Amino acid sequence: MRNTVLDFIGMKRQGRRIAMLTCYDYTMARLLDASGIDAILVGDSLGCVMLGYPDTLPVTMDDMIHHARAVVRGCQQALVVVDMPFMSYQASIAEAVRNAGRLIKETGAQAVKLEGGASVIGQIRAIVDAGIPVQAHVGMTPQSVNALGGFKVQGRGEEAAARLLADARAVEQAGAFSVVLECVPPKLAALASRTLHIPTIGIGAGAGCDGQVLVSQDMLGMFTDFTPRFVKRFAEAGETMRTAFRTYAEEVRAGTFPSEAHAFTSADCDDAVLARLERSLHEEQTPEDDGV
Ligand code: KIV
Repeated sequence: MRNTVLDFIGMKRQGRRIAMLTCYDYTMARLLDASGIDAILVGDSLGCVMLGYPDTLPVTMDDMIHHARAVVRGCQQALVVVDMPFMSYQASIAEAVRNAGRLIKETGAQAVKLEGGASVIGQIRAIVDAGIPVQAHVGMTPQSVNALGGFKVQGRGEEAAARLLADARAVEQAGAFSVVLECVPPKLAALASRTLHIPTIGIGAGAGCDGQVLVSQDMLGMFTDFTPRFVKRFAEAGETMRTAFRTYAEEVRAGTFPSEAHAFTSADCDDAVLARLERSLHEEQTPEDDGV
């Protein structure tokens, strides 16, 4: 049975913390799903992790749909949430609903996520009214990196903290089923988590949130272009992969791969047959070929 947004809310009521990770492809989705992860986010972080952009701004609807379809094909249990990319929902409410609809209809995911607080409650309300669950995202919102002046902790100081709490409450009232709190001081995130009815999912927001999300390639040690302070490496998969690639190249160059264990048996191709074939190749050669 696949997790639903109601399970998400139920987990908060039961005090069971929610484990969420990002994913952008089929193979990783199969691994994550088999691990029993509660939810998968097809984040627009794929712009950096999969496509090599410096930030998430160039990511398109087509990019999100392409990757989300692969993830959905690979997972049966986890709730799949897809990010709405930059400028797919900001310009108008009608465009937001149309694009949220595309993400659900064309990928088979169960929910969408969009960034922003009070400024996007019209979009959240309209998407929810169209029957699409919305996860909100406040605090450090990477699509606003230029307006925020970089990737920085948000909610510092009384005014900023009050604004963050107001944003979180506004998205809850607009109908979001959950809210991501990114780069928020832990005590402020804990206060938001205690006072909201919907689950908070923290990233760089401390252990007081109702759940956590990380970029999988960060926590696996695979993506090292930049590593935020809040990332814990749960594995050194990048190093494991580099070692495997190096060893493969060495074995190919040395002629030790493939060995007999990694080749097909030659039952249908015995030495006598091969000798006959080789002889006929020689006989077919023209006199000119012989002279070369
Ligand atoms: O795009 C993303 O991966 C995200 C998470 C980091 C929350 O928005």
